[in-house]
Amino acid sequence: MSEPLLEAKDISHSFDTLLFSNVNLSLNPYQSAAIVGRSGCGKSTLLHIFSTFLKPDKGNVTLFAKDLYAQKDEAIEALRRYDIGIIFQFHYLFKGMSAMENVQVATMLSATQIEDRLLEKLEIKELMSHKIGELSGGQQQRISIARVLSKRPRIIFADEPTGNLDNETAELVMDVLLDYTKETGAGLLLVTHDESMAARCDSTYKLEDKVLRLQV
Ligand SMILES: Nc1ncnc2c1ncn2[C@@H]1O[C@H](COP(=O)(O)OP(=O)(O)O)[C@@H](O)[C@H]1O
Ligand SMILES: [Mg+2]
Repeated sequence: MSEPLLEAKDISHSFDTLLFSNVNLSLNPYQSAAIVGRSGCGKSTLLHIFSTFLKPDKGNVTLFAKDLYAQKDEAIEALRRYDIGIIFQFHYLFKGMSAMENVQVATMLSATQIEDRLLEKLEIKELMSHKIGELSGGQQQRISIARVLSKRPRIIFADEPTGNLDNETAELVMDVLLDYTKETGAGLLLVTHDESMAARCDSTYKLEDKVLRLQV
């Protein structure tokens, strides 16, 4: 058995009140998992914790066999730059630049190449010379996904990536994300309120009553 990409143990976190406690989750190479739960229950907070951006009140997170809270800042920065891909519902693209320039920023930082095949699969190849401001929300979301996948991350954290997309585009985005995990062995952790998107993942967890449970 290969080592998990992500292992979270006994995680608790509060903002004003307790959001969740005793959260345990692990994700293996090639594996996809969804997290569902009601708005405000703490799903995005959990993703921030798993993806190095927030330290929980209690618990441990191990990414690629490294204990996050024992790492130096430079090691965390390297993880973010090379190994972790993050996709949000609202994309953060550079508005004045073309789609191609936006993707090039990522490949320049990670020293990777833009793959034509990825642009074709996302149906954005013909859009790459357009300025971001000329593209629809759904097109922009696919550009931002191309930007993240072009980094060749070993794990992808996606927070409601299909939340603003029509159903056909949402399915296309899920196809691309799941194909990427199959082709590269990366893991995918997907937060969604869409049961049909969650059902396409290998497993689904539900965050409810401050507890994360694997759905069976
Ligand atoms: N940085 C923060 N500071 C204070 N409260 C926060 C912060 N981030 C999230 N919260 C609160 O924590 C709760 C869970 O938020 P969130 O993780 O975004 O939930 P979800 O993604 O499930 O909708 C919400 O009540 C939210 O207002
Ligand atoms: Mg959220």
